[in-house]
Amino acid sequence: MFYDTESNAHGMVHDPFKAIVAPRPIGWIGTKGRDGSRNLSPYSFFNAVGDRPKMIMFSSSGRKDSLRNAEETGVFTTSFASRTLLEKVSRSSAAVPYGTDEFALAGLTAVDGRLVAAPYVGEAVAVLECRVTLVTTLKDIDGMDTDSHVVFGQVVGVHIDESVIRDGRFDLALADPILRAGYMDYAGISPLIQLARPSAPGRG
Ligand SMILES: Cc1cc2nc3c(=O)[nH]c(=O)nc-3n(C[C@H](O)[C@H](O)[C@H](O)COP(=O)(O)O)c2cc1C
Repeated sequence: MFYDTESNAHGMVHDPFKAIVAPRPIGWIGTKGRDGSRNLSPYSFFNAVGDRPKMIMFSSSGRKDSLRNAEETGVFTTSFASRTLLEKVSRSSAAVPYGTDEFALAGLTAVDGRLVAAPYVGEAVAVLECRVTLVTTLKDIDGMDTDSHVVFGQVVGVHIDESVIRDGRFDLALADPILRAGYMDYAGISPLIQLARPSAPGRG
């Protein structure tokens, strides 16, 4: 089958787009408002986009609280979403009024960043502390502003729990991430497939 995205006539109950571009890592974004309120929400329009320096991004569909806080304070964190925390990841995505502390809502420990004034999930096995480098609104093919707003951040600090370091490596199987698939689905990573790049063996 084929459909054009202007008509979006896929004929299915749900739009398959997010199931095709999947699985996606989940950025569990921790921020603080200018008023000091804490915020925590999952974003699967999230990825690493550079490594020298380390850069990550998340995209807000509409102007959500994480975007507002990142803009207001210039910092955010992202906590690693492990399978053991799946239910809390989901709970922290609840649509609640601005200022609601989703750390408390999901029963998670909020820890203040070491280098940035933004909270992260104390239970997470890895955390990136980030400073905002760019916030931009995506444009469509007609040059019109969309309602997708992308926050780019430079990673300034990295936390890793000793429990997921094995043989001197961050062991992804131990960290056991949940990934966003389409619909209501999540995926895991096991078993990992190992394949060295032809030009750069041993490098990512
Ligand atoms: C696993 C998962 C991934 C999500 N990814 C996104 C995303 O990439 N962009 C987005 O705008 N909302 C996403 N959402 C929905 C937001 O988490 C939800 O709208 C949340 O209430 C936003 O919180 P905030 O306003 O505190 O930032 C996702 C939800 C879940 C459960």
